[in-house]
Amino acid sequence: MKDAIQRAAGEQVSVTFDLKYRSGLIQADPTQVEQVLLDLVANACEATPGGGMVSIRVQNEFSSADVKNGIPEPNGYVVLEVSDTGAGMQPDVQLQIFEPHFTTKENGKQTGLGLAAVRAIVEQSGGHISVTSAPGKGSTFRVFFPLLQAAEIDHDPETGAAPMHWSDAILLVEDSEPVRTLIQKGLTQKGYDVISEPDGSHALARAKEYGERIKLIITDVEMPDMNGRELARRLSSIVPNANVLYISGYADDAILHHGMLESNAVFLQKPFKQDELERKVREVLSPPSKKGLRRFRAGDPTT
Ligand SMILES: Nc1ncnc2c1ncn2[C@@H]1O[C@H](COP(=O)(O)OP(=O)(O)OP(=O)(O)O)[C@@H](O)[C@H]1O
Ligand SMILES: [Mg+2]
Repeated sequence: MKDAIQRAAGEQVSVTFDLKYRSGLIQADPTQVEQVLLDLVANACEATPGGGMVSIRVQNEFSSADVKNGIPEPNGYVVLEVSDTGAGMQPDVQLQIFEPHFTTKENGKQTGLGLAAVRAIVEQSGGHISVTSAPGKGSTFRVFFPLLQAAEIDHDPETGAAPMHWSDAILLVEDSEPVRTLIQKGLTQKGYDVISEPDGSHALARAKEYGERIKLIITDVEMPDMNGRELARRLSSIVPNANVLYISGYADDAILHHGMLESNAVFLQKPFKQDELERKVREVLSPPSKKGLRRFRAGDPTT
């Protein structure tokens, strides 16, 4: 949402982002989370009419100030923070901001429903919201979304395995922008954490950054600067335990790769349907040998 947020903020307000990637999985409606963020950013910008700074952070840190603000259990949140250098609020205003129809903006355009909606959404997700502000000192809104526990994450119906650990990631390398976006969207919707890059050199840099958290590499075979095989070879020294899924539109690649793929690699011919890709991804992430073992265990009367 970075671009949309910067556009909405206009030129007077500079928006900074400090996002801790892989801060964890939460359960919430993505559209509603977007609304929360946009409402908070709109308020922050409206509070800095002469220009200023708005910063957006996502992390897991919890401070003593949060305890003071009444946020229970200091562990296990993804914290979305929006702070501004704007006008700030008087204490009496601060007490009413979450009430429906409360507004101090007398331009006739505001409904005063922004924060009421934000609070409703956050509470529906089992979360909390806090605000710290003083007149002339800006405001900081912190939204606490509870982290999903492993047991709550959708499990694969066949293997019983969680799709991935929350910190795991898929590195997707594909030079065609529309194909890349499509794959990324599909897998993200299924709960996978996808890092996507258009070429080999960017992919290598990201792999160094994420290291062992990358469990699967999905790469196109034919790419202009570095082909998929070469990329996979170079990635194997950075993330030796990651599996590789090659995708290609050339039937010849399939023939070429047949029987000579690395033991941790599989091939999928383009074009493919979204569910074919998902099946392949699941397959690569939970190899059949392990599946067999689990089945055996499930039927074992001693377990
Ligand atoms: N970042 C902020 N800085 C200063 N005051 C704020 C900030 N965010 C909210 N407020 C105060 O809280 C009030 C309620 O905010 P809320 O978003 O619910 O309504 P609104 O912004 O006035 O109207 P709407 O969101 O419907 O356009 C605001 O009118 C303003 O007084
Ligand atoms: Mg508002």
